[in-house]
Amino acid sequence: MTARNLFLLPGDGIGPEAMAEVRKIIAWMNEAKGANFVTDEGLVGGCAYDAHGAAISDADMAKAMAADAVLFGAVGGPKWDAVPYEVRPEAGLLRLRKDLELFANLRPAICYPALASASSLKPELVEGLDILIIRELTGGVYFGEPKTITDLGNGQKRAIDTQVYDTYEIERIAGVAFEMARTRKNSVCSMEKRNVMKSGVLWNQVVTQTHKDKYSDVKLEHMLADAGGMQLVRAPKQFDVIVTDNLFGDMLSDVAAMLTGSLGMLPSASLGAPDAKTGKRKALYEPVHGSAPDIAGKGIANPIAMIASFAMCLRYSFNMVTEADNLEKAIANVLDKGIRTGDIMAEGATRVGTVEMGDAILAEFQALSA
Ligand code: IPM
Ligand code: MG
Repeated sequence: MTARNLFLLPGDGIGPEAMAEVRKIIAWMNEAKGANFVTDEGLVGGCAYDAHGAAISDADMAKAMAADAVLFGAVGGPKWDAVPYEVRPEAGLLRLRKDLELFANLRPAICYPALASASSLKPELVEGLDILIIRELTGGVYFGEPKTITDLGNGQKRAIDTQVYDTYEIERIAGVAFEMARTRKNSVCSMEKRNVMKSGVLWNQVVTQTHKDKYSDVKLEHMLADAGGMQLVRAPKQFDVIVTDNLFGDMLSDVAAMLTGSLGMLPSASLGAPDAKTGKRKALYEPVHGSAPDIAGKGIANPIAMIASFAMCLRYSFNMVTEADNLEKAIANVLDKGIRTGDIMAEGATRVGTVEMGDAILAEFQALSA
């Protein structure tokens, strides 16, 4: 069988601990199932800065470009708070997203039944929650130019960020949202601020047009992004697929993540356009949580988001649907058994560390794969 090439970028903080649990799953799939994953590993974020003076080296960028999929841990930490803006840890992640043209960021927010009580909302509001946030990832204010701080010479400075979207960028992300909706509950809510922002006006027009032209079978609704944030905490189960821009998507996905009980639970996939010849997409999979420097190295981090990110990788990069389903089921089963890391601990449950959680999920995955 042809090799399945994975490039691992564990990064900083709890990234390496979480990645180690995925490595165990990969090793087992190779050994027992002949999955033929070939892994290589690089540096990103603060550790890359320490080694090369850059948030990711050109050599590692080339490997990320060549791989079938990239698995990414987390970047950043107080150690690098004072490094120059251009080489801050986050710059490595942003370069990966931009250079690989990973315009579509899929952030599912699923509330596992066993965790409904860990949410900050009432259990009945989040039980059975299953939202997919589709965040535009290579445009908007993250990358728009000019992006500057200028000295005005009178003791004042001026900072400028630029929010910019072209029609094609909105069209292609809307397309992803409608396609995904068709595989789910067939409903899309588009969020922008057309009442204040020109980019919101265009966003709204292009989503509406794309819907009319190609996806009129899907239910479409528009919401102002602030109202959308309010609805997400008021009645989150009204949503199926939410499509929004880079910055709103960043914020709304953190809100959605917390509805599910812990940031430590949520995976994400960042996908490029399918290649015209091979149909393959460039892809990067990462947990939504950050590097959590306060708990790094203590062996208590929750590896579920990282493992669930690998499940998304199986599904979207390798079309290993049964394996992806089984891995997700394994996570749910382990939670049902009351096995918990500290962040999702509940009364009467068994508190475990990162490695034990990884072992429990692997054992369950093995049983389901038998
Ligand atoms: C995320 C993160 C990143 C972002 C940071 C680390 C640059 O918050 O993936 O949501 O803002 O996109
Ligand atoms: Mg974020």
